[in-house]
Parts: sequence; C-alpha cells; structure tokens
Amino acid sequence: MRSKLFVPGSRPELFPKALAGQADALSFDLEDSVLETAKAEARCLIAQVLLSPESAASKKILIVRVNGLTTPHFEADLAAVAGPRLDLVNVPKVESADDIHTVTRTLARLEAERGLARPIGILANVESPRGLRLAAEIAGADPRVVGLQVGFADLLEPLGIDRADAAAIHHLQLAVRLAAGEAGIWACDAVYANFKDAEGFRTEALAAKRLGYIGKSCIHPSQIALANDVFRPTDEEITIAQRIVDAAGNANAGAFTVDGRMIDAPFIRRARAVLAIARQLPPPAA
Ligand code: COA
Ligand code: MG
Repeated sequence: MRSKLFVPGSRPELFPKALAGQADALSFDLEDSVLETAKAEARCLIAQVLLSPESAASKKILIVRVNGLTTPHFEADLAAVAGPRLDLVNVPKVESADDIHTVTRTLARLEAERGLARPIGILANVESPRGLRLAAEIAGADPRVVGLQVGFADLLEPLGIDRADAAAIHHLQLAVRLAAGEAGIWACDAVYANFKDAEGFRTEALAAKRLGYIGKSCIHPSQIALANDVFRPTDEEITIAQRIVDAAGNANAGAFTVDGRMIDAPFIRRARAVLAIARQLPPPAA
C-alpha cells in the first residue's frame, strides 16, 4: 500500500474520481474532514459507495476512518460501514490495547450478525503521547491490527512541536516503525498537508521509506504518483535483491559475499521481501 488517499465522506462527488485514480488504497473519512452536522449523512454515503459495483470491481484496499472510541459516533460509524467490501477500519487516537479490544469485539459482533466471512482488519492511528508510549502494545493487541498509522497534526499541534522540524519527525517515524516491527506489522506514513509542495512530500516520503514504511497517506490526487514512485522498489534495489536471492540459492555457507558485501540470513529475508513487494505491484506508469 504505497499510497492511501483520504476522501472526505461528506463529498460523494470525489468518490468516483478516487476510485478511478491510481491510489493503492482509499480511506473514506468520517472523522476530522467531516463536520459534526454532516456525520450521519457521510456514514450513509460511504456505506453506499462500499456497496457499489465500482467498489466491487476495484482492486484497491478500501478503508474507512471512523470517529474515535470516545465520540458518540464510533458505534454508528462501524455499524454503517462493516460489510464485505471493507478491508480495514482506520481507528483514530488509539491509546491502549484495550481500545483495540473494544474495536475487535464490535467488529466480531457485526461480522457474526451479517455473516461476513472475511475478518475486517484494523489500521490503528498513533497520534498522541500516550498512544506513542504504548504503540507496541497497540500493534500487538490483536491479529486484526495489520498496520500502524503515524499522525502528526493531533500529536504535534497541542504540544507546540513544529511540523517542519525534520529531526522531531524522524524520531516519531522511527518510534512508530519500531513499534509496528515488534508486532510484525507494517507502518504507514502521515499526511503532508501542503499539497502544493511536491518536493516536501517527496523528501518526507523518502525518509519514511528509509525507515521501512510501506507507504504514505495522501490528501490530494497530486500526491498519489509521488507516493507510488517513492515506495516502489527501485530497479537497482530489485536487481541487488535478485542477486542476493540467486547467490543464496547457490551458497554452501551461511555467510557469503555479493558485490563486496557480506550477506547472511537477515539480508536474504529482506531481499526476498523486496522481490515479493515488486511482484505484487502493477507495472510502473509510463
Ligand atoms: N479525493 C478525490 N478527488 C480529489 C480529492 C480527494 N481527496 N481532492 C481533490 N480532488 C479532486 C478535485 O475534486 C479536483 O477535481 P476536478 O479536477 O475534477 O475538479 C481535483 O482533484 C483537483 O483538486 P483541487 O481543486 O486542487 O483541490 P480542492 O481545492 O478541491 O480540495 C482539499 C483541496 C485539501 C480540500 C481536498 O483535496 C480534500 O478534501 N482532501 C482530503 C482531506 C481529508 O480527507 N482530510 C482528512 C485526513 S487528514
Ligand atoms: Mg486527526
């Protein structure tokens, strides 16, 4: 999931454009981009689009960001959108493993009531000091949690931490990546609000890629191609990975040399993972 485009649930005119675009995943939003007075209608609109033939035919990962557990909307949001075409529910402001258990119980009940064969996964947002401190517990709380999403607006603004402080961003990205890694799940990088600043988006995405993030959230269609490009393994990465895997097949020792570099088990596992990612992706845009 290299690119995950947010689409406000209250703007149905954007849904067909988002479905027709190149994002690997769409995240229909019920939370911060939807006014309090528009939540109920947005819920119905998202439920409809998830049932549409366009969604059924789409190969995209379909996600809904619901309102947080402490809001009056959480239960109604989940009840409206839990269905066969919902891949992941994105839960904002998760603060503990118990929060995940609450989401899991609700999802399990809805799936049983509706005869849904495929469990709905959870993408948990880490976007508060407590959420960050407990991020590894959150990541490992239940097998439904497939990824952690780092969120900067909610985390930084109340603390007065400057979003432009690259060192602070790097620290937070690494902390969330390591928490996800402890649970063996992936991490997705934050949105970059200044959508006219392509270079800034790209720089931040490259930094996230170097930390092992699988992709970045987008708020505007112009950011999708940037994310898809950054998070696609480069031709050079694929060539080196292939050389490592080939050499491992012929090696008769645990440690050997490829291109002057010592290779052993963790490098071979990483090389296989790079090739697996490359195989899953559509061919690069011309
Ligand atoms: N999904 C699908 N299409 C989108 C889109 C989105 N998130 N954002 C913009 N577009 C479309 C526009 O409708 C427009 O289409 P058109 O060429 O057919 O008219 C085109 O892309 C260009 O959009 P633009 O005019 O540059 O942007 P805007 O001023 O209409 O909207 C935002 C800017 C930021 C308000 C809008 O991109 C948006 O709402 N993004 C998502 C916000 C969100 O979900 N936030 C919560 C998560 S942090
Ligand atoms: Mg937020």
